[in-house]
Amino acid sequence: MAEDESETAWAALKALAARPDAAAIRPLFATDPDRFARFSRQAGDILLDFSKTALSDAVLAALLALAEARDVAGFRARLFAGAAVNATEGRAALHMALRAAPEDEFRAGTEDVMPEVLAVRARMEEFTRAIHEGRILTAKGEGFTDVLNIGIGGSDLGPAMVARALWTPDAPLRGHYLANVDGHAWAEMQAKLDPARTLVLVASKTFTTQETMANAALTRDWLRAALGEAGASQHMAALSTNLAATGAFGILPDRVFGFRDWVGGRFSLWSAIGLSLALALGWDAFARLLAGARVMDQHFRDAPLDENLPVLLALVEVWHVNGLGYPSRAVLAYDERLARLPAHLQQVEMESLGKRVALSGAPLQRASGPVVFGEPGTNAQHSFMQLLHQGTTPVPVDFILVARPDHAHANSHRKLLANGLAQAEALLMGKDEAAVVAEMRKAGAAEAEITRLLPHRVFPGDRPSVTMLLPQLDAFTLGQLVALYEHKVAVLGALWGINPFDQWGVELGKQLANVILPELSAGVAQKPHDASTAGLISKLAALWPEGRA
Ligand code: F6P
Repeated sequence: MAEDESETAWAALKALAARPDAAAIRPLFATDPDRFARFSRQAGDILLDFSKTALSDAVLAALLALAEARDVAGFRARLFAGAAVNATEGRAALHMALRAAPEDEFRAGTEDVMPEVLAVRARMEEFTRAIHEGRILTAKGEGFTDVLNIGIGGSDLGPAMVARALWTPDAPLRGHYLANVDGHAWAEMQAKLDPARTLVLVASKTFTTQETMANAALTRDWLRAALGEAGASQHMAALSTNLAATGAFGILPDRVFGFRDWVGGRFSLWSAIGLSLALALGWDAFARLLAGARVMDQHFRDAPLDENLPVLLALVEVWHVNGLGYPSRAVLAYDERLARLPAHLQQVEMESLGKRVALSGAPLQRASGPVVFGEPGTNAQHSFMQLLHQGTTPVPVDFILVARPDHAHANSHRKLLANGLAQAEALLMGKDEAAVVAEMRKAGAAEAEITRLLPHRVFPGDRPSVTMLLPQLDAFTLGQLVALYEHKVAVLGALWGINPFDQWGVELGKQLANVILPELSAGVAQKPHDASTAGLISKLAALWPEGRA
């Protein structure tokens, strides 16, 4: 890729963004009756409508030219070929292999990864079916009723999000997720669970993560107290790449489900890390989830850039972040079952794209990943949407709408959908002074009152959103949706020239926590700290003298 070419493409985009009407969306609708059809695309079950953005034909062409100049197609080919696209860790990023069919080919470098992927998948299926069919029983010879996944970050968020989305009361087991090292989280969880009927999965790629190992040790003690040492080991399994550490922790070898270092934590829900999903939802649901993601993998790999949903979502983001200077984005799923999707996407996007240097190590010349946040609709409307409608800086929104509900309350669902559509329309169209004046006059307001309140009641409009429309929410469509976001992140990595697959930025805090931990035991700072940290250590010691060990 020629740097000059891509700088020319960035400059062309900047010129378009500098035009006075660059952020205007309403005129694009006013002059083009076909805008919805022309600025939406379908892949698999997902319709992506990006017409409610300020992308004109010229802007879209400039964005696609940028994608060409940044060689997004070449990056995509290297990703699927198992090249070491995670250059700072010298690894491939091959999560697509985890959801591949037996006939698909994936290599990490020269190694054919499919035999191992399929072998682990077969062991996961056999284990899952054996638990569900009562061929594997509890230490007391009963059936398991609950599965507890202990993990954090990518070893928690993806599976917890999917379980929240797809679990129903007739599912085989109840799924629970324990992440935080906060003892309150374990106390709360412990109160819900019977050790005699609970299967514990310790999910950790590295099997060294402080929070997970602390919770795993607490849980092992809890199982041992109830079932003895041999009984406890019948209730535990590990999901990890670190087979030596799982053995040292006391997990039986046939209870360890492995994966490889080319699976990034935030892309790992499709690997052994997803075992809690197979157990809680059933093997067939897990297989459908993988199959859905594979549909999106194939679309991403094969579709031309201007038809390609992950590429288009990424280009819209570039327009918002680099063109118009919008530093954040909201994800509003109008489906309560997707309540944990924003949390999962926060890791997938912000851990991947929160980078300040290019792959070369040079500081970036432009902004990279935005802040991502979200809540389910309609709840969001009654908390932060005020800022999105009338705040000083536009916040682009991803609306996720699901056409058919899995309940019989059509009235509720119509209200839910009406609100989702209305929010997107309100952000786009706004409400101008004339409309506010007419409305207030009609309501009988005095002229002075109208003048006083007018600025407060005007909505500027031209606030962008994209809408992703799913026919229904099930394992197959959810797999497609999650893979869409994963690939969007990879494309943004290529466009910004950063490595979306490493996360060095989480290391420093972990190191410092290990310095401070013994100081909390001692009740006083021992290593040099800034005055604030040292002062707070002393205050904490005074407030919690029992915390000294
Ligand atoms: O938070 C940092 C991180 O390294 C994430 O990238 C990862 O998903 C998480 O910790 C958990 O790591 P592990 O699966 O190794 O316990």
